[in-house]
Amino acid sequence: MNDRRRVSDRTVTTAVSRPAVDSPVVTVLGVSATAPDPAVVARAAAVLRAGGLVGLPTETVYGLAADARDDAAVRRLFSVKGRPADNPLIVHVADIGGLEAVARSVPPLARELAARWWPGPLTIVVDAGDVPAVTTGGLGSVAVRVPSHPVALAVLRASGLALAAPSANRSGRPSPTRAAHVVADLGDDVDLVLDAGPCALGLESTVVDARGPEAVVLRAGWVTAADLGLPGVPDAGDDSASPGTRYRHYAPRCRVEVAAPGTGPRRAAALQAAGERVALVAPAGTGVPDGVLVLAAPVDAVGLARVLFDALRRAEDAAVDVVVVEAVAGTGLGAAVMDRLHRAAASPAAAGDAVLP
Ligand code: TXA
Ligand code: MG
Repeated sequence: MNDRRRVSDRTVTTAVSRPAVDSPVVTVLGVSATAPDPAVVARAAAVLRAGGLVGLPTETVYGLAADARDDAAVRRLFSVKGRPADNPLIVHVADIGGLEAVARSVPPLARELAARWWPGPLTIVVDAGDVPAVTTGGLGSVAVRVPSHPVALAVLRASGLALAAPSANRSGRPSPTRAAHVVADLGDDVDLVLDAGPCALGLESTVVDARGPEAVVLRAGWVTAADLGLPGVPDAGDDSASPGTRYRHYAPRCRVEVAAPGTGPRRAAALQAAGERVALVAPAGTGVPDGVLVLAAPVDAVGLARVLFDALRRAEDAAVDVVVVEAVAGTGLGAAVMDRLHRAAASPAAAGDAVLP
């Protein structure tokens, strides 16, 4: 990648891979993850109020934000991501008042869940009110969350907007957990990227439907079924209920293989012996074959959640043929992590096809 970085005063301007005669740049502004500079926040808010697109950190993954009520901005967001129009966006708001403003009504269950989990990685689906059909994929419902990342919250408050923000990856690619991932996928198709370092959680929010008598998990995520007092969800839930879960997802440009617990190094050695360039994500201490690139050594589901998307992208950057990822138990947070991992491994894109739909 033609990555020319100029760092001055915490501002990084990056040219992404494009012909030398045409070197568009995306402005990447460094910002503290704990005490964001009001000037940087104000700049992001101004871009959003003007109908622009801003890549920004949340506690889960980086999001690509646009004014949720600006049809043109949201249409551009879909186009930049290469996202199917029937896959609705999560609307991010600053507080429960923001939920009331975009919902037709807020059922008691939604209120309870919001009181317990917001700000945080739970997305609550309610009947849609004042929010355009382009944002909700015409579903009649709207998915809403209050992120806990200080930068996301500060931009929400400064802009006064409800922000539609899907994960800031090109459709089908691993979710971005660092600003560099956003730049790598979207380049100057976005107007501004805020870089607050790696996301603390690394895995997306849980999406729950709060319109019925009890919460229904539509997409497994950081908040587990047990956290919600529900029976375990063995996989991603009902594909028809959360449109995004039926699309090809999370695939890097190399193959992804899932190895049973304890077998990662052995599988990596076998693939290497067969002449492949191999990367490995497995707990340390199990003996790594010579020449295999170890990308991360997470000890449990929390650790794997934090590093998985980054490791998939580093595997492709290292130009390996295959990355072997050792499975974790598929219970609790492991259900969501293994859902992502299985999708990354199953994707046709992982076999070398074009990644974008
Ligand atoms: O942690 C997250 O949720 C991140 C950060 C940026 O907030 N966002 C995120 O957005 O993962 P996205 O667009 O990559 O995934 C949103 C998921 C998709 O599966 C989509 O189909 C589902 O939420 N969704 C959105 N609106 C919905 C609705 N009204 N009903 C059911 N599912 C919905
Ligand atoms: Mg996504």
